[in-house]
Amino acid sequence: MNRLRALARRLRNIWSRHGWRMFGPLVLHNVQYYTRHWLRHGSLATPRSSVDRIPGVETQRAVYLSELGFSGDVGDSAEPYMPIDEAQFRWVMEALPIRLADYAFVDLGSGKGRALLLAAQMGFKTIIGVEFSQELHLAATKNVSAALGKWPNAERIKLVCGDAAQFSPPPLPVVCYLYNPFGASIMREVIDAWTHAMSAHSLDVWIVYSNPTQLELFKSELSFEHVFTKKGSAVFRRADLGVSR
Ligand SMILES: C[S@@+](CC[C@H](N)C(=O)[O-])C[C@H]1O[C@@H](n2cnc3c(N)ncnc32)[C@H](O)[C@@H]1O
Repeated sequence: MNRLRALARRLRNIWSRHGWRMFGPLVLHNVQYYTRHWLRHGSLATPRSSVDRIPGVETQRAVYLSELGFSGDVGDSAEPYMPIDEAQFRWVMEALPIRLADYAFVDLGSGKGRALLLAAQMGFKTIIGVEFSQELHLAATKNVSAALGKWPNAERIKLVCGDAAQFSPPPLPVVCYLYNPFGASIMREVIDAWTHAMSAHSLDVWIVYSNPTQLELFKSELSFEHVFTKKGSAVFRRADLGVSR
């Protein structure tokens, strides 16, 4: 019953934020995504993650923006907090043909920090989370503090409370992670900010986009090359490095 209520809320959310034009395609996308999820896990709930076994860490419970006091205008583009499925995250990071230890990891819309803790354990050089909700930022701060000394490389995690569209990527080889954090308008601003930042250096940039509702925005973007889409995640790489793949 709770699941049905959550589904009804999600559909209402899609309708009010995206209107009738996008309702059909987004519902179809969600049906495909959750069917794959159901087939893989036998349930619609995200499986618990190993990070939630660290004493004092909680990343499991979904949080709707209305619970955080955000009104419709912010909700126009922001997605609620849902933690990424650990297996899906590990699979796609391990599929990248790079040495993770040479790269920074940036999670735009980092929520309670599940992906950040997993990225730390996987050995990224530095890990940055950007989250615009103060409550979720605070939850991530508590989680990372609880993980210090108990979880590999937790001390490498930096947390920023702010809008992903205003965040300037670090001048480092970087993997940018997006787990369906926002809609088209913010995503457009994020793509422009990253493209602008990339014009100042020739460092490698990867975009890993899970549950990619705005896939077409990236696919039509000349500064990124689509590498693959598999198991619910799309992977793009900076296009102008002349690297043969
Ligand atoms: C689906 S959750 C992803 C959680 C996390 N990345 C993970 O994998 O566990 C999306 C998150 O994006 C955040 N978000 C939405 N719009 C944002 C924005 N403009 N800037 C920063 N964070 C945003 C939401 O508050 C939410 O926590």
